[in-house]
Amino acid sequence: MEASVPAPMPPIVTLTVNPALDISTSTEQVISGHKLRCGASRLDPGGGGINVARVVQRLGGRTLAVYTAGGPTGEAYRRLIEAERLPALVVPVQGSTREDFTVDETTTGKQFRFVLQGPVLSEPEWRLCLALLADSIPAGGFVVASGSLPPGVPADFYAQVARLSRQQGARCVVDASGPALSAALAEGVFLVKPSRRELGLHVGATLDSPGSQVEAAAALVADGSADHVALTLGGEGAVLASKSGILRLAVPQVHVQSTVGAGDSFLAAFVLRLAQGRGVEAAFRAAVAAGSAAVMTPATELCRRDDVERLEAQLSAESFAP
Ligand SMILES: Nc1ncnc2c1ncn2[C@@H]1O[C@H](COP(=O)(O)OP(=O)(O)OP(=O)(O)O)[C@@H](O)[C@H]1O
Ligand SMILES: [Mg+2]
Repeated sequence: MEASVPAPMPPIVTLTVNPALDISTSTEQVISGHKLRCGASRLDPGGGGINVARVVQRLGGRTLAVYTAGGPTGEAYRRLIEAERLPALVVPVQGSTREDFTVDETTTGKQFRFVLQGPVLSEPEWRLCLALLADSIPAGGFVVASGSLPPGVPADFYAQVARLSRQQGARCVVDASGPALSAALAEGVFLVKPSRRELGLHVGATLDSPGSQVEAAAALVADGSADHVALTLGGEGAVLASKSGILRLAVPQVHVQSTVGAGDSFLAAFVLRLAQGRGVEAAFRAAVAAGSAAVMTPATELCRRDDVERLEAQLSAESFAP
């Protein structure tokens, strides 16, 4: 008899319609009217979906990153992705891929992040993104649409992604803000990962109290906006709302270096564990572990696998907070 080999996990497909070439450096003090002499700089391929794909790959999962690229910055961006051997599908665009600039102020430990808008995408360009994505959607798998929309892309773009995913039997995960988030929720998604600020903007409240946070997350499940709502609360941990109820987790004690990429690492670990067949509770613990592992690394660096697995083991002993 033949030994049964488990079917390989379908890749987690991520979509980044507004990637950014991240330049990060440090300077003693950010002050106006002077040349600010900076330390060494580093370049990273940034953007929500790309970060999710990089973390999935780093944690041992299969992924396919669909992203736009244009101009000389787009060329540099593509080279960085190729150097990481990240499986990818590039959608060529006319405009130049944007750059983001992160400066760590060494005398205070403060971080300054300058986030540019991105090139204008034409209608044929954003429609091409949807068409190429549609060809890659894994039935029974996951599509992660994450990050801002560049100018020219309609606010219901992620709603269209959610519809396409559902039609092709995949679960759609969205991490966005403002009108793009609201439109995706109106369409209905499998999982949404707002931060407190993003969910607050959507519901028109500050969500300061634990009660209001739980209420807002649970309301999205109740009205069919999302099957699962992972509300992340920075250093205060996260709340997960789904049909089976509410879970809350505090973050493990970690030394905070830079919070860049925390939400993306959170989301990557969540989806990867689900794709690997783990339950929602285990996925949520892995997500908090990965988010916290990401803040332990400097500047734009994402989480490291050994940190994630150590914190995940630590959190698996922890019961959920009331
Ligand atoms: N100061 C911190 N200490 C420990 N863990 C943290 C800290 N900040 C963030 N995290 C981890 O990262 C996760 C996501 O963080 P956060 O809520 O800031 O989301 P985000 O998507 O990065 O935020 P935003 O999109 O608004 O910039 C948290 O749930 C937590 O697991
Ligand atoms: Mg975020």
